[in-house]
Amino acid sequence: MSTHRIVILTGRGDAPGLNAVIRAVVKYAVGQLHWQVVGIEDAFNGLLSEPRRLHDLTPRSCQGLLHRGGTILGTTNRGNPFSYPDGEGGTVDRSADLAAAIEDEGLEGLITIGGDGTQEIAWKLSQSHGIPVIGIPKTIDNDLPSTDFTFGFWSAVEVATEALDRLHTTAEAHDRVMLLEVMGRTAGWIALYAGVAGGADCIAIPEIHYDVERFCEKIRARRRRGRQFTLIVVAEGARPQEGDQEPTHEPHGKGTVMAGGTAQTLARYLTERLEVETRVTVLGHLQRGGGPIPFDRVLATRFGVHAVNLVKAGRWGEMVRLHNDEVTSVPLESATGMPRLVEDTHGLIRAARAVGIEFGQP
Ligand code: F6P
Repeated sequence: MSTHRIVILTGRGDAPGLNAVIRAVVKYAVGQLHWQVVGIEDAFNGLLSEPRRLHDLTPRSCQGLLHRGGTILGTTNRGNPFSYPDGEGGTVDRSADLAAAIEDEGLEGLITIGGDGTQEIAWKLSQSHGIPVIGIPKTIDNDLPSTDFTFGFWSAVEVATEALDRLHTTAEAHDRVMLLEVMGRTAGWIALYAGVAGGADCIAIPEIHYDVERFCEKIRARRRRGRQFTLIVVAEGARPQEGDQEPTHEPHGKGTVMAGGTAQTLARYLTERLEVETRVTVLGHLQRGGGPIPFDRVLATRFGVHAVNLVKAGRWGEMVRLHNDEVTSVPLESATGMPRLVEDTHGLIRAARAVGIEFGQP
């Protein structure tokens, strides 16, 4: 006998592990507790489109999902119910339509798997329309406050580290300065972890505006020691300190801006100042594609199960999180607001500096 009918969605940029969360929620809630779980296609859009795009999820329909990248529900960057595209280039508030659709479908509440943007929408829905929501934090950027790690992050770090390992050998063979641009518009977590794991000599992150001269000096010092090549990891949101030209931003679809070009900019600065041959690799969406590594599969499973436990306990309005290796929860509101940035005092920054990695600032 079904005692709950809940709905699940995946919002904004995908991250390895989304399907593993869906699977965990469905296996537990439907397979063990005999509830109903409905999936919405393309974040909130599936509830607002005509006809609605909803699917009853069952353990059978979720078979083989643990290791699969992407999301079986689909996702989108466009479809905020509070500023929904009106089809004529403008936006309209459709949050009341969403609330009505939830009631009409007999849905008790929402489980939103997403980053800060999605959790903020979820929180606003709960505040303005009384919709019960539970959040599950996701983003490869790892920049959500209140959780030690989001799932997807370590899978992205794995891809970036492998790229560095590969760049390492060819950099050494050709005596080149190799720059790897990784994702991270506002937070440099991927650059920091992958840079340390992949033996980078320099790391440029958005939080530390770099002095190009410090990177030049690192390259010179390596050469004096007979190391003719250098590996540099650059987060897509990295910036030079004041006075140097900002990297360009490319418009990326309507209303959104894509960071990037930062590695190319830094490469140009270096060649203007040193006799070096540089090559730039932009890793882009390779970091988001593909299946999750074991850590993210495990974290996704724990998050999914904990979210169902919160529903069971009637603890709506919370977001699951990982803290000191325990999965617990915090008020959903704490996931909104400012992103969690890399602080200069972070232990890994100190460890990285201790092994000689240059960040462009002392
Ligand atoms: O927010 C996650 C993220 O991967 C960022 O690091 C990156 O800048 C952005 O998504 C890219 O988004 P899109 O897929 O819309 O190009």
